[in-house]
Amino acid sequence: MSEAAIEKLDLANSDPWSVPLDKIDMSDPSLFQTDTLWGYFERLRKEDPVHYCKESMFGPYWSLTKFNDIMQVDKNHAVFTSEPGITLPDRPEDFQTPNFISMDPPKHDVQRKAVTSVVAPFNLAKMEPIIRERVQTILEGLPVGEVFNWVDLVSVELTTQMLATLFDFPFEQRRKLTYWSDMATSGELAGGPTPEPVRRAALLECLEVFTGLWNERINNDPSEDIDLISMMAHNPDTQNMDPMEYLGNLILLIVGGNDTTRNSLTGGVYFLNQFPGEYDKLRANPDLIPKMIPEIIRFQTPLAYMRRTAKEDIVIGGKTIKKGDKVVMWYVSGNRDEEVIDQPNEFIIDRANPRHHLSFGFGIHRCMGNRLAEMQLRIAWEEILKRFAKVEVVGEPVRVQSSFVKGYSELNVIVHPH
Ligand code: HEM
Repeated sequence: MSEAAIEKLDLANSDPWSVPLDKIDMSDPSLFQTDTLWGYFERLRKEDPVHYCKESMFGPYWSLTKFNDIMQVDKNHAVFTSEPGITLPDRPEDFQTPNFISMDPPKHDVQRKAVTSVVAPFNLAKMEPIIRERVQTILEGLPVGEVFNWVDLVSVELTTQMLATLFDFPFEQRRKLTYWSDMATSGELAGGPTPEPVRRAALLECLEVFTGLWNERINNDPSEDIDLISMMAHNPDTQNMDPMEYLGNLILLIVGGNDTTRNSLTGGVYFLNQFPGEYDKLRANPDLIPKMIPEIIRFQTPLAYMRRTAKEDIVIGGKTIKKGDKVVMWYVSGNRDEEVIDQPNEFIIDRANPRHHLSFGFGIHRCMGNRLAEMQLRIAWEEILKRFAKVEVVGEPVRVQSSFVKGYSELNVIVHPH
C-alpha cells in the first residue's frame, strides 16, 4: 500500500465540515456510492469554491463547485482543452479511443456536425412513435403487485432499445450495447471493478460488430440513411476514420445515450417517492411532465462532472490554475448552488425556469442528445402516468461506484395500476 493510500481519509464516514479542507477529494467514488457527497460540496461552495486536491487516485486536480465558475470554464474552450480526455483518469497511451467530446475545434466541430442530424427535430419526430410503442410494450410487461428492479426492467431496457433504434442495431442483441457501455465507463482506471484486459476485449468486440455493420451499409443509398452508422459511413468527414476513432465515436454515442437517460429514468421514480407532494401535483396535472423532465435531469445530474485541462495559467476565484492542470467542473455541485438556484435541494416539478441547470454542459460540447433524452423521458412518463397510479419505491437504491456516472444499479419498486 502506498503512503498516500495509508494517509487517505475515509471521507464517506467522516464529518464533511471537520475534515481538513486539503483532504477533501471529491473524485473518491465511495462518496457517490454512499450518497455522502452533498455536505462536502456544500462546504466547498462556501469555503473553497475553487479547490485544489493534491492527491487522489487520479493524481492532482482542481474542483470547480459553483454554477457560474463552471459555466465560465465550460464556455472557454480556448483556454480549457478537452484533450486528451474529459474524465479524470488518463487512458493508457496504447489504447486511445479518440472521439469528438475529447477534441477541440476545428476537428470537434467537423465530427459533431457529421452525426448531429441523427438527433435533428425531423429525425426525433420519426423516432417518437417507435419509442412510444417500445415504452408501451415494456410497461405492459411489468409484473404488477410484485417487487422488481426498475433499473433492469425499465430504465436499462428502454434506453437500450432506444440506442438499438439509433444505430439500427440487431434488436435481439441489444443488451450487448449496455454491456459495452458498462465496460467503457468501468475500468480499473476509472475506479471501477473491471480489469483492464477484460475491458479492452469487450471494446474490441464492440468494434468488430460495428465494423461488420458499417461494411454492410457502406454501399446503401445515402439518401435513405436514418441510422448513425450509415451516416458516419457516408459522410466525407467521418468515412475515413481509423478504427480506434470509429470505436471512440461509437462509445461516445453509446455511453452518451445510455447511462445518462437510464439514470434519469430511475432518478425520477426515486425523487417522486422522496417528495410525495410533487407526485400528487403530477397526478393532478400530467401537463407538468415537460417541466418535470429538466428538473429530474438537474436533480439527478447523470454525469457528475466533465474535466478540462488548462492550456495556460489562468486565475479563477482568486486561485491560479497552472498550464497543464486538470480542472473538474462538478455539474452535480453547480446544480445545487444556492446562489443561482432557488431551494436547490428541493425537487420541484413546476419550477419557473427548469432548464437553467448544468447537466448538459455549456458551450461547444453542450450535449448533442439533450432533446432526444428529454423526449424519451417525456414519453416514458406520459405512458407511466396513463397506466399506474403509483410506482412505489420499496427500498433504498443501490448506487453505482463512480464519481463520473452518477447512477443506480438497483431500485426496487411495486407498480400499482389505476
Ligand atoms: C439526460 C441525459 C443526458 C445527459 C445528462 C447528458 C450529458 C452530457 C454532457 C454533460 C455532455 C458534455 C457537455 C460539455 O462538455 O459541456 C454531453 C455531451 C454529449 N452527449 Fe449527452 N447527455 C445525455 C443524453 C445524451 C443522449 C441521449 C445522447 C445520444 C445521442 C448524447 C450524446 C452526447 C454527445 C455525442 C456528446 C458530445 C458533444 C460534443 O462534444 O460536442 N447525450 N452530454
